[in-house]
Amino acid sequence: MLSEVPRELRTPASRSRRVTTTVATGGSSRHEMVRLAAEGQPLPSPVEAYFEVANRCNSKCATCPLTFSPQENAKQLSLEEFKMLVDQLPDLRRAVMQGIGEPLLNRELAQMIRHLKQRGVYVVFNTNAALLTRRRQVELIESGLDELRVSIDGSTPETYLKVRGIPAFERVVANVAEMVRTQRELGSSTPRLSLWVTGMRQNLPELPGVIDLAARIGVEEVYLQRMVFGFMARVEKTLARADESIYDRGYRAQAEAFIDEAERRANAHGVRFRGADALSPRESIVDRPPMDEPWRACSRPLRLAYVTAQGTALPCCIAPFTDAPYESITLGNYLRDSVQAVWTGEAYRAFRERLYSSDPPAACRNCGLAWSL
Ligand SMILES: C[S@@+](CC[C@H](N)C(=O)[O-])C[C@H]1O[C@@H](n2cnc3c(N)ncnc32)[C@H](O)[C@@H]1O
Ligand code: SF4
Ligand code: SF4
Repeated sequence: MLSEVPRELRTPASRSRRVTTTVATGGSSRHEMVRLAAEGQPLPSPVEAYFEVANRCNSKCATCPLTFSPQENAKQLSLEEFKMLVDQLPDLRRAVMQGIGEPLLNRELAQMIRHLKQRGVYVVFNTNAALLTRRRQVELIESGLDELRVSIDGSTPETYLKVRGIPAFERVVANVAEMVRTQRELGSSTPRLSLWVTGMRQNLPELPGVIDLAARIGVEEVYLQRMVFGFMARVEKTLARADESIYDRGYRAQAEAFIDEAERRANAHGVRFRGADALSPRESIVDRPPMDEPWRACSRPLRLAYVTAQGTALPCCIAPFTDAPYESITLGNYLRDSVQAVWTGEAYRAFRERLYSSDPPAACRNCGLAWSL
């Protein structure tokens, strides 16, 4: 059955004190997530959604499946399709306007955001910011976008090129610096701007430099996110490999030293430095006590929908980066069938049932073990 209490709920008080319940990004609180996973029952309708508004990219990141093997035919979500999906999500509180692909390639993005803001939904997305021209900056600010997360992955042009695959470091930094000025000119406190680093051995030494960079251009937040790997183990040029992981025990001490230094600089500059999912970078990467069957603590398939540009339902944003066969993570099609039909359908039910078992779906078996959950 789906109801076994995840270990996270059974932790001693000293550990549970670390659990953060902030909902600063419109997402579910950790308390809510833990409760949901313990119950193992889906919400009547998703409260969060990922919309892959474009499934192609103008970048060539060495960590991204899109660079090596796109899973679906090229497509963008149209405004009409998008509205049809949103209309079927009555409880939506938070929308992430990306899947795998670059959201700024979709020219209807600002209209989509406006539509969500009329419904009071918190809206956020990650971008490579290569197309963040002055015109797009103004459009996004005026759309009411709550949060814009710029993936930077390094503090030097050399590392940026190695990780992101294109020589665009200076352009991206200039675009973000201009975005800060445009916001000031327009007197807008939104979107909240942040720089994002997908942590790997290749770029972790530059984490303190990313904090300095943020301070220099006026960005108030930096995030360190987990690197997921496995989807292209046989591709030579990928950086999404086990030996680039900063999460395994053999690298913990070094990871800790870079994170400590980044924390010191963040304090000195007044920059907020965070990890994924409302945890601190230290909690997310270093201070993770070993857990049995950690995937059982995941509540994503119970509360969030992920829709690709082709309409495919995926269980979460991590699954497409893993080595799980694509068919094993596709749970229906939201554009072909209704949201309710997919959400309550057999494929989703079976996926959830396996998630809360000792034999999880292929995508889930390394969650909390090879990377933080
Ligand atoms: C797939 S991208 C889509 C949005 C946009 N194109 C961008 O790069 O920000 C979403 C996020 O995934 C990150 N990412 C890329 N490869 C990853 C990996 N192997 N594991 C975890 N995150 C990864 C990117 O750096 C980015 O912050
Ligand atoms: S991580 Fe983002 S920018 Fe990089 S290739 Fe993938 S979709 Fe494009
Ligand atoms: S892959 Fe990880 S995040 Fe996604 S549903 Fe499975 S356990 Fe949850």
